[in-house]
Amino acid sequence: MKGLVLSGGKGTRLRPLTYTGAKQLVPVANKPVLFYALEDLAEAGITEIGIVISPETGEQVKQEVGDGSNFGARFTYIMQPQPLGIAHGIKIAQDFLGGDPFILFLGDNFIRGGIVAQVNAFRAQAMDAQIILYEMRDPSSMGVAVLNGEGRVEKVVEKPKQFISPYAVIGIYMFGPSVFDAVNNIQPSARGELEITDTIQYLVDKGLNVRAHKLTDAWVDTGRIGDMLEANRLVLDVIPPRHDGIVENSVLEGRVVLEAGACVKNSKIRGPAIIGQRTVVENAFVGPYTSIHKDCLVRHCEIEHSIVLENSRLEDLPTRVADSLIGRNVQIHRAEGPTKTVRLMLGDFSQVGL
Ligand code: G1P
Repeated sequence: MKGLVLSGGKGTRLRPLTYTGAKQLVPVANKPVLFYALEDLAEAGITEIGIVISPETGEQVKQEVGDGSNFGARFTYIMQPQPLGIAHGIKIAQDFLGGDPFILFLGDNFIRGGIVAQVNAFRAQAMDAQIILYEMRDPSSMGVAVLNGEGRVEKVVEKPKQFISPYAVIGIYMFGPSVFDAVNNIQPSARGELEITDTIQYLVDKGLNVRAHKLTDAWVDTGRIGDMLEANRLVLDVIPPRHDGIVENSVLEGRVVLEAGACVKNSKIRGPAIIGQRTVVENAFVGPYTSIHKDCLVRHCEIEHSIVLENSRLEDLPTRVADSLIGRNVQIHRAEGPTKTVRLMLGDFSQVGL
């Protein structure tokens, strides 16, 4: 069985971060979200993996991810010149996939507990496709599936306006070679994409065996800030504590990871939290569910339930920072002048809560 991981797209819902980087490289507990997908595949014994990239962020993805040796796998990069949909990603990977069954994993999907059980279920039965479902109160921003009594998929609809079922179709799919007939015959949707949901519906309409596996563990589509913070919470909740940095006159409570060269002085860190390589935390409070990446400075301020990307500085802040996603090379500091003013220089699509 092969793997196909999609790591293209524009990431519009995570702007402005995605103006300069791939959404799949935004870190969860200081590791790109994409890495969790690659690790899940390797853990399930899938080591021949195609990674679909875009012209905008492909080089960056290649640089971060490498040739697969770090994951015990072999990666083949496949360029998708335009974001024409998930099913288009399968279409352009046809040569790579050959006639093998494969697992398609959207690089911004995060699943706790890995995929071994689902892959084993697919391998054990003769199926044309297996989708994974996640029960939600409101799945209207996802693909949604309706099942018949025997666990077979009857209908799949992309972002239905009316409630048809509580089952979101998550971004991890397993297919046999019959999927190529589907992706080569479906038409682009109203948003101009070859939809994965139309692909699955095509297989269902042909009377093929499309099965569903209901997920009981957590799943997050990390397309938005709230979802990134949720994935971050899920990972930090179980991260093994490790203190590879320097601690001076400070209190570290609960699960705390200090990466090599991190330095914590006169501060309190209440885990779960991770402080990246060479990051300095000084006279500060870092609260639960915070991931601060490498080469940052957090001085005279308080922060909790947030993700900070590399090389950013937070200094002398009068209010606690919370529920935030802060990009690379960002500087936040106290402004000179009247106390009730804020001075901002924000990129397009920035969001500030005051
Ligand atoms: C895509 C799929 C959708 C699926 C979702 C999972 O949505 O089209 O069917 O439920 O991924 O993350 P998109 O991210 O394109 O809105």
